Amino acid sequence: MLEEQGIAIVDRDRNGVDRAFRGDVLKGLRQRQKAVPARWLYDDAGSQLFEEITFLEEYYPTRAETEILTARGAEFAELIGPDRAVIEFGSGSSVKTPLLLSAIEPAAYVPLDIAGDFLREAAAALSAKFPQLPIYPVEADFMRETALPDEVADMPKLGFFPGSTIGNMVPRTATDLLRSMRATLGNGGGGQRPLLLIGMDLIKKRRVLEAAYDDARGVTGEFNLNLARRINRELDGTIPVDRLCHVARWNDDDARVEMHLMAQGDLSFTVAGESFRMSAGETIHTENSHKFTRRSAAMMLQAGGWSPVARWKDEKKRFCVILAEATEERGAP
Ligand code: AVI
Repeated sequence: MLEEQGIAIVDRDRNGVDRAFRGDVLKGLRQRQKAVPARWLYDDAGSQLFEEITFLEEYYPTRAETEILTARGAEFAELIGPDRAVIEFGSGSSVKTPLLLSAIEPAAYVPLDIAGDFLREAAAALSAKFPQLPIYPVEADFMRETALPDEVADMPKLGFFPGSTIGNMVPRTATDLLRSMRATLGNGGGGQRPLLLIGMDLIKKRRVLEAAYDDARGVTGEFNLNLARRINRELDGTIPVDRLCHVARWNDDDARVEMHLMAQGDLSFTVAGESFRMSAGETIHTENSHKFTRRSAAMMLQAGGWSPVARWKDEKKRFCVILAEATEERGAP
């Protein structure tokens, strides 16, 4: 059962340009360390490339998390219970979502994503697999508090945020997102507090981490370069994409893998009518992928208003899935 909501909150100018995209790109390119927020990697082409990444030999997170979701379904069912509305923040995980949905007997499924076409395709595929399950896709930026469809207003909620996507945010933004998820999920139907099932990648050897973001086939490089192509296409840019190269490096101080686009010579280009220069070796920082320990994960969740209830790792202890409950608002000690 697929219900189209038709909610589109992307703010476009009269030429169809996404104002937020243009604002973020221009602001980011004016900085000393050029940077574009990672969420703009995911237009339709970027989302497709990311799906391809998830099958790469070097990219272990998807396999590790899928292993957990496959092996622990009975435990999820026991701790979560049936009849919740599952709200997935960022859809498109064609393998993981059915694992959760078939484990817990949900009352409805609400995939929330900014990439509209991809969202509708993913929702239609799920609808075929779960014909009895009401599905209400919502085209929205999950970084902001979002109104959910009226149909799920009274149901208790389970937020689902797999893939360690939380790691793509700096800690302050991650905390803001956790708080806004809490607000989106509300206070729960029937007095049941909202739950959140979230995947987080763990710190491990630099060699393994860097290979995961710089695969031998160059798919991750294409994913990164697609951002420059998107800027050219959507913002009337002249970035010489063939003179940029993909770089992935572990930043130990900040516990994250960083992706950059590095200039292979001195470059000059325009974006939305504004001129920019890059010297050889200079980079545009395009993504952070933070990695966690048990403690750093718990602290971040607590800061965002969630209390961990249970935690599972894959056999090789590369990745963890955490079930958290919205923390009761009360005075701190
Ligand atoms: C979506 N996100 C969790 C991926 C990650 O691992 O940080 C994005 C990605 N970037 C390059 N490879 C995968």
